[in-house]
Amino acid sequence: MSRIIISGASGDLGRRVTGLLLAANPDQELILTTRTPDKLADMASDTVQIRYSDYQYPEAVSDAYAGGDILFLISGLNLGRRVSEHRAAIAAAQHADVGHIVYTSVGGVQPGNPALSARDHLQTEADLRDSGIAYTFLRNHLYAEIVSNILVAPAVPSGVISQATGDGFFAPVAKEDVARCAAECLKDPSAHAGRIYEITGPELLDFHQIAAIATHVHSSPVEYKPVSEEERLAFFDAVGIPRTYDPTMPPSPDGHLWASDELVSAEVGLAQGFQALQTRHVEQITGQAPEPLAAVMERVREVRYDMIDATVA
Ligand SMILES: NC(=O)c1ccc[n+]([C@@H]2O[C@H](COP(=O)([O-])OP(=O)(O)OC[C@H]3O[C@@H](n4cnc5c(N)ncnc54)[C@H](OP(=O)(O)O)[C@@H]3O)[C@@H](O)[C@H]2O)c1
Repeated sequence: MSRIIISGASGDLGRRVTGLLLAANPDQELILTTRTPDKLADMASDTVQIRYSDYQYPEAVSDAYAGGDILFLISGLNLGRRVSEHRAAIAAAQHADVGHIVYTSVGGVQPGNPALSARDHLQTEADLRDSGIAYTFLRNHLYAEIVSNILVAPAVPSGVISQATGDGFFAPVAKEDVARCAAECLKDPSAHAGRIYEITGPELLDFHQIAAIATHVHSSPVEYKPVSEEERLAFFDAVGIPRTYDPTMPPSPDGHLWASDELVSAEVGLAQGFQALQTRHVEQITGQAPEPLAAVMERVREVRYDMIDATVA
């Protein structure tokens, strides 16, 4: 049996994929690598190892994958550092003779996309192609939970969603559908070698349509008012988010380096049509249709997040 490494295992996606793999096979051998091993201590067993690793420090990742056959490389979050961090992980995979990497990329990865995060993922995809290791890219489109909890729910009291997303369309996807795709690829990687999947939800929607769904789910009128890039940047200025990534900037309370150029550039990329893609890859990979946004929004209706914790990709 192949030993699977989940790299970045303590986050939401890592936990979901770990759970799915163990549910499918309780004896599955796993190596869970994380910056915070304490958070996963209760998962350790005869077949599940917990190891410290941090993409930021190549020496802290170089031996983390030893003995693993298949790597689930969960992308990091720090714009500007992410490409070099992922290179450290790829080098560690080469060092460990890993045979296949499943990578969490993002929707809209194309040259010319203004989204700063898409540029990072495009470079890591190129690095993986050059690595000599078999790969599968999961281009995960915007999580439906982020749309529901971070972009929509905080706007319900005012009844107005304001973003620089223009009239762009996208196909938000439930996290569990993303996790199920990843688990299937990890269970049988050779069946997915060289594949580039666009992991989308079942419908292409713009924010006018999303506001209509929110009106129904929250039983409260919500409308969408597109704003310009400059207005959106001014909003983030007003809530104290720095404009431009700087490696010396202080991390936010969740330990990440957020800057409004990353957040707003993703909105502009959406407005320009880079996310306007809907596929049936979830169904093809898992045999099950993905969950519609309205169902996700209903399911997570009571969960609220502060706007400034928004993660775009
Ligand atoms: N498609 C979308 O809408 C969307 C939205 C947000 C994020 N993403 C991307 O998808 C990934 C997974 O999403 P998620 O929901 O699981 O995010 P999450 O719950 O915020 O978890 C972030 C993950 O990134 C890992 N990570 C971050 N920096 C790292 C570093 N320096 N070294 C090693 N691991 C690092 C963390 O691992 P440990 O904490 O265990 O070390 C953690 O598993 C994110 O990391 C991000 O790149 C996509």
